[in-house]
Amino acid sequence: MTIGSESELQRVSLGGLTLAYRDVGQGTPCLLLHGFPFDHTQWHPQIPALTPGARLILPDLRGHGASDAPPPPYRLTDFADDVRALIDRLDLDRVVLGGLSMGGYIALSCAERYPERLQGLILLATRAEADTAMGRQARLAMITETQAGGAEAIVTDLERRILGDRETPAGIATLVHDWILGTSVEGLIGSLTAMATRPDATPFLSRITCPTLIVVGTDDQLTPPAAAHSMAAAIPGAELVEVPDAAHLVSLEQPAIVNPIIERFLERCRG
Ligand code: MLT
Repeated sequence: MTIGSESELQRVSLGGLTLAYRDVGQGTPCLLLHGFPFDHTQWHPQIPALTPGARLILPDLRGHGASDAPPPPYRLTDFADDVRALIDRLDLDRVVLGGLSMGGYIALSCAERYPERLQGLILLATRAEADTAMGRQARLAMITETQAGGAEAIVTDLERRILGDRETPAGIATLVHDWILGTSVEGLIGSLTAMATRPDATPFLSRITCPTLIVVGTDDQLTPPAAAHSMAAAIPGAELVEVPDAAHLVSLEQPAIVNPIIERFLERCRG
């Protein structure tokens, strides 16, 4: 799997925060938000398939990749505000906004805060519910471990959480390992705090009015198909696709299935 070079990245200063992003292709603007703790290269398998008809805008979220990592804590709304500032800076009226996992939590927050800027919403491997009390405890424990020992202290636990107990293609396991170890302590703690404190988005789902696509891997243990079905039942007109032989990193594991689904959805948003 190829990883983008530094020279492909652009940078923008948004109120003191420098955000790095890749801007590639021409057509319908589609802004994709990576999961935790990854970076924009997560979307590399989508670039060749989608850029004939779409302009892909792929930021490194605050605390990740080549973007600034301000001191924690972060709130989910900080990420959502960064995304809006980037849309404004690129002078775009509306975008199709997609996100995987934490990127999906952020996309839902964007959809609630500024629905008028969304031409469509893509929710991959994500859920609307907040953390359970137990889930929150586990995140707080991870924050304590990270404070004491950095990314190395949580890499094994995080890998297990993200990859589950299913066999993962070696290339993807290596990417996840490198992404975790390449994320700063600030980014890890900031994002863990944002996820632990995020509100339940379920009550808002019935108010989503833009076309919505939900994608989930049948073997996803972290954000399982049941969570995707609940969102699809609550969002008016949402389209749900279950991808066989895929776990949490569905768009990395099965690009040959996921890319045409996104491509068709972009056509629908265009029309
Ligand atoms: C992600 O993949 O973005 C995160 O692992 C999601 C989470 O921990 O809830």
